[in-house]
Amino acid sequence: MKIAISGKGGVGKSTLAAALALLMAEKKIKVLALDSDPAANLAVALGVPEETRKKIVPIAMQKALIEERTGAKIKQYGQMFKLNPEVSDIAAKFAINHNGVSLIVVGAIEKGGSGCACPENILIRALVTDLILHKNEALIMDMEAGVEHLGRATVSGVDGMLIVVEPGQRSVDCAKAIIGMAHDIGLKKLYIVANRVTCHEDETFVKNSFPDREILGTILFSQEVRKSDMTGKSVLECAEPETRKSFESILNNLERMFK
Ligand SMILES: Nc1ncnc2c1ncn2[C@@H]1O[C@H](COP(=O)(O)OP(=O)(O)OP(=O)(O)O)[C@@H](O)[C@H]1O
Ligand SMILES: [Mg+2]
Repeated sequence: MKIAISGKGGVGKSTLAAALALLMAEKKIKVLALDSDPAANLAVALGVPEETRKKIVPIAMQKALIEERTGAKIKQYGQMFKLNPEVSDIAAKFAINHNGVSLIVVGAIEKGGSGCACPENILIRALVTDLILHKNEALIMDMEAGVEHLGRATVSGVDGMLIVVEPGQRSVDCAKAIIGMAHDIGLKKLYIVANRVTCHEDETFVKNSFPDREILGTILFSQEVRKSDMTGKSVLECAEPETRKSFESILNNLERMFK
């Protein structure tokens, strides 16, 4: 399965992406985590040590690779380039590995005159779309906050999207905008995950906000998860058993949906 994780800023997208990727790796699923947030920090949530993090070169900074594969010069607009660049070896060559998870960081793509059709975006889109997953393989894509990335459609090759929502109207409104745009690019399997839930009313608020949509899971507010961001350890290592169980339940539900 190829899953993107989306939602308003700070709702817990990277937390969920890291927890799911690590749980998959524990289950011996070969998982590629793609950090497509320009302010990349999935590596931290995965607990990648600082020395390794320093070695990560985001794909967007690999000018030679982008130019070689797309046949286009970066920052030169109006040129012809390949719309189907060769990407089959990119995961193997450019991912770092940590606790069974392969991680690729996309990095910040400069927005220019050619909008979504710049060589960098074409390459990333091809990477997601052309990646052939066998049984027991998965792609988890941690998205940038909000809806802008949906306009670039680098995410159009995924099978489904989890939209993280916290109890609050702003995050619900953002999720609804994401659902609308995801429909526009043909994504049909869209599921809500409620995060930082503190009480029954919180959960009811999220459920009532999406009466026609399945809530794939609920993650309670967890001091341990919050503190994990200060320790260098992964989200999953820090999560107490109850929180770990909610991540496990989300993964089980996902597997059911994408069987
Ligand atoms: N269930 C939770 N309980 C407590 N804290 C949480 C929970 N989920 C996430 N957090 C904390 O909230 C903060 C934001 O989480 P995270 O970075 O995963 O969000 P994000 O949606 O990826 O943010 P961004 O939009 O900046 O990429 C982090 O400090 C994280 O530790
Ligand atoms: Mg994030």
